[in-house]
Amino acid sequence: MQIEQKLEKHQSLLNQYREKLEKSRLLFQKHYFSLYKSAINAVEGWLPLDEAELLFTKARSLPDNAVIFEAGSDKGRSTVAMGYACCGTNRHIYSVDLWNPYPIEDWRKNVEKNRLLEYVTPFQGNSHDVLKQWNQLTGGKVIDFIFIDASHEYADVLLDFELSFPLVKPGSWIAFHDVGDSESSGPGRVWREKAKPILLNCGQVGCLAFGQKPVL
Ligand SMILES: C[S@@+](CC[C@H](N)C(=O)[O-])C[C@H]1O[C@@H](n2cnc3c(N)ncnc32)[C@H](O)[C@@H]1O
Repeated sequence: MQIEQKLEKHQSLLNQYREKLEKSRLLFQKHYFSLYKSAINAVEGWLPLDEAELLFTKARSLPDNAVIFEAGSDKGRSTVAMGYACCGTNRHIYSVDLWNPYPIEDWRKNVEKNRLLEYVTPFQGNSHDVLKQWNQLTGGKVIDFIFIDASHEYADVLLDFELSFPLVKPGSWIAFHDVGDSESSGPGRVWREKAKPILLNCGQVGCLAFGQKPVL
């Protein structure tokens, strides 16, 4: 057999193995999420399970010491979904919410019940204020994944995006919730008009859209 033919054969075998490996990885990920599904579902909130799974999977794909920022935690449904992806790692979530009128105790109770408190630091306040003071609050940590789900007013979502974008590591992920509510919804407009055009590898599951900050 000619050397070129042998190379071609090996290349094709390698591609087959790669495909099998990717299938097994996805299967494992699914199985892994199913271990936590009912615990996540027990936390009150609007986030559907397929979207929770996406947050879990994205968080699990991050480096061991990744920094995750969540704007809008409410009672902790998304916090718990991402928190399970931090178990046994040095990944850490910073969760921001006004927690008003709903008290932070509801969020804390849910995170504590799932034994995830060590993986999360809550900041009670306006997400814009927290982002403006991010370097002082965290000692200048660079963000690996940001999930924007706080105020859904266009100007507020835009400011969340504009303030967080410079803090996110190139190559990291940015996700927006509720992008599909209506043509004029704040998150949907910011996603379509501002974020999607400059992010790479964009995708969407339900109302959760995500993309990657380009590496320059
Ligand atoms: C849709 S809920 C978040 C749901 C949560 N991600 C979950 O999975 O259940 C939106 C939250 O954003 C909070 N919020 C609204 N405006 C905010 C702001 N400017 N800064 C911080 N949090 C805000 C609200 O208090 C509310 O809890």
